[in-house]
Amino acid sequence: MEKFLSFEDIIIDKNIKLCPRKKLGSGTFGDIYLGKNTETNKEFAIKCESVNKTNKQSLLKYESDVLRYLQNGIGIPELYSYISKDKYNFMLFELLGPSLEDLFDLCHQKFSLKTILQLGDQMLSRIEFLHSRYIIHRDIKPNNFLIGLSNKKNLIYICDFGLSKLYRDPKSGKHISYNSGKSPIGTARYSSIYSQLGIEQSRRDDLESLFYTLIYFNNGLLPWQGIKTKSKTQKNEMILEKKINTNYNELCKDLPYEFIAFIHYIKDLKFEDKPNYLYLKELLGKVFDKNNFNYDLIFDYSYLLDKKDIIQEGLNKNKQNEDIIKKNENENDIIDNENEIHKNINR
Ligand SMILES: Nc1ncnc2c1ncn2[C@@H]1O[C@H](COP(=O)(O)OP(=O)(O)O)[C@@H](O)[C@H]1O
Ligand SMILES: [Mg+2]
Repeated sequence: MEKFLSFEDIIIDKNIKLCPRKKLGSGTFGDIYLGKNTETNKEFAIKCESVNKTNKQSLLKYESDVLRYLQNGIGIPELYSYISKDKYNFMLFELLGPSLEDLFDLCHQKFSLKTILQLGDQMLSRIEFLHSRYIIHRDIKPNNFLIGLSNKKNLIYICDFGLSKLYRDPKSGKHISYNSGKSPIGTARYSSIYSQLGIEQSRRDDLESLFYTLIYFNNGLLPWQGIKTKSKTQKNEMILEKKINTNYNELCKDLPYEFIAFIHYIKDLKFEDKPNYLYLKELLGKVFDKNNFNYDLIFDYSYLLDKKDIIQEGLNKNKQNEDIIKKNENENDIIDNENEIHKNINR
């Protein structure tokens, strides 16, 4: 996205100012900044998109439509407004805390089993909610789950609906049809095998990505990370090959048997199948009980959240490293394309 030329606060609407100095994250379609209502002092997040002649259809508008459609769900960021002004579009929404990827880094790329199970339980609930509204997310990964602020710090939010899609027609209830030969979308590292093979995504693919996310939290990295190739296409091919050839026993070797049952169940789902979310939650719950964990919503990072300086310092450090990581790790890049992003959402 085109950078704001000035670092002075920008008034984008009557009482709404954007603080270019306070960047909260950089995304594929646009950056996210802190915003403030100058009258009430209320803070929020502003996702920005610069308008140019080539992107006639606004991805941000699409995302705000999806977010509006999902309002009032637990762990869904509140949408405040969508503003188009001059060469920019702005989406004003709930200010949240760090992403699970940020928190994972702060915990030196290792989460305890208890943290993974508590996160997994909430992440499953978010995915189940989306699916209950006929939406598939299609980019499930640690960066797209954020924690809330202050009294919502134990609540895991699901974010980033730019690639989401309706898998059913809300009126007729008809499921989208099976399709192959599609260009894969999402993030190669966490994408399902079917998605990387170009098969139309459905509910099962969100769950497979969730599984890779949980394994990443436990193992610190996935076997298909860090592959070096000349081109991005080659890299995606090698990631896919490694994913196909990775044995679940090996992937879950430090984890209880239930994780293997978890992925086997997901891999057995047919294209249109409704996943049994409760069964998956119960599998995680069994591990929880066997270990006598207490469901107290204390996570590995919880003690850090009380130490604002540590978290801010850690996040700043991560942001400084962001560009280097982005250059080196393009499997964490979004696989962009797909014109159909704009279709399919009924307001
Ligand atoms: N509401 C928010 N509050 C605070 N930080 C946010 C918020 N939304 C996004 N971010 C930060 O910006 C990053 C990118 O946002 P995201 O919506 O995922 O954009 P993209 O579609 O480009 O990936 C997130 O991973 C997170 O670090
Ligand atoms: Mg994102």
